[in-house]
Amino acid sequence: MSGRVQGKVAFVTGAARGQGRSHALRLAREGADVIAVDLCQGIDSVAYGLATEAELKETAREIEALDRRVFTAQADVRNPAAVRAAVDAGVADLGRLDIVVANAGILSAGPADQLPENAWRDMIDVNLNGVYYTVRAAIPHIRSRGAGGSIILTSSALGIRAMAYVPHYVAAKAGVIGLMRSLALELAPEKIRVNTVNPSIVDTPMIHNRFTYGIFLPGVENPTSEAISDVFATMNPMPTPWIEPEDVSNAVAFLASDEARYVTGLEMKIDAGFCLA
Ligand SMILES: NC(=O)c1ccc[n+]([C@@H]2O[C@H](COP(=O)([O-])OP(=O)(O)OC[C@H]3O[C@@H](n4cnc5c(N)ncnc54)[C@H](O)[C@@H]3O)[C@@H](O)[C@H]2O)c1
Repeated sequence: MSGRVQGKVAFVTGAARGQGRSHALRLAREGADVIAVDLCQGIDSVAYGLATEAELKETAREIEALDRRVFTAQADVRNPAAVRAAVDAGVADLGRLDIVVANAGILSAGPADQLPENAWRDMIDVNLNGVYYTVRAAIPHIRSRGAGGSIILTSSALGIRAMAYVPHYVAAKAGVIGLMRSLALELAPEKIRVNTVNPSIVDTPMIHNRFTYGIFLPGVENPTSEAISDVFATMNPMPTPWIEPEDVSNAVAFLASDEARYVTGLEMKIDAGFCLA
């Protein structure tokens, strides 16, 4: 099925690569124009590289190749003024706003008593505060049309189930679920729906890097993709080491569409059974 969000405009953060790019392209394929935002630089407390400006341009190129319009901006979701400026300019360019996918996020790890303070702060700032700033900047635009809308927050299976050595990540992603519930209640009278997607391990640069391999294979000098695949495969009841970004985009496309017109306040697990184990 295509055309599920025909004529609508979607605002996607973390759109330069990984799940954010996949969501942006899927929504474009379903008929939406896209406001695509990314930081496009690294963060000190994050040990792997974040997306680049060239990757954001590539997302834009692929959206245009689908015959949809795109507005890109480099903005840090930790900065409310920058997020607001990006979405305001995007709406001025593309004419309206119907869908938000607050997807930008980071990963770091360490024992709870040794986690550097900036790692804790950056995590809460990007993965929780950044989600709030994204939604806060978007609400007035969605509300102004009076026609409802869909806000999708990227939480995680780790917002539902705990994991050791990532207390700040688990706290932020659980916080996103709480934020979603409160927003869903507040915005329901305006037919603005708010849901989370809760993926388990997704095949993106966030997991495929030396740092993340080191979390799951401590002490192994040169961990390979095959070795990490074996470890991840033990974590999912279904026989797969990870899910693909498109698996999450399928959920995003559903939640963004009118097929989900009475779906709000949902934590949608896309997790190969991870949370059951
Ligand atoms: N990969 C996984 O296993 C997994 C599992 C569950 C949830 N998630 C969540 O999914 C979301 C997408 O992650 P991904 O897997 O695509 O990883 P990714 O690292 O490929 O993508 C994250 C994107 O967010 C951007 N970003 C980071 N900080 C930003 C900031 N301050 N402002 C704007 N943009 C910023 C990055 O540049 C990057 O493009 C994240 O919220 C992540 O926590 C990932």
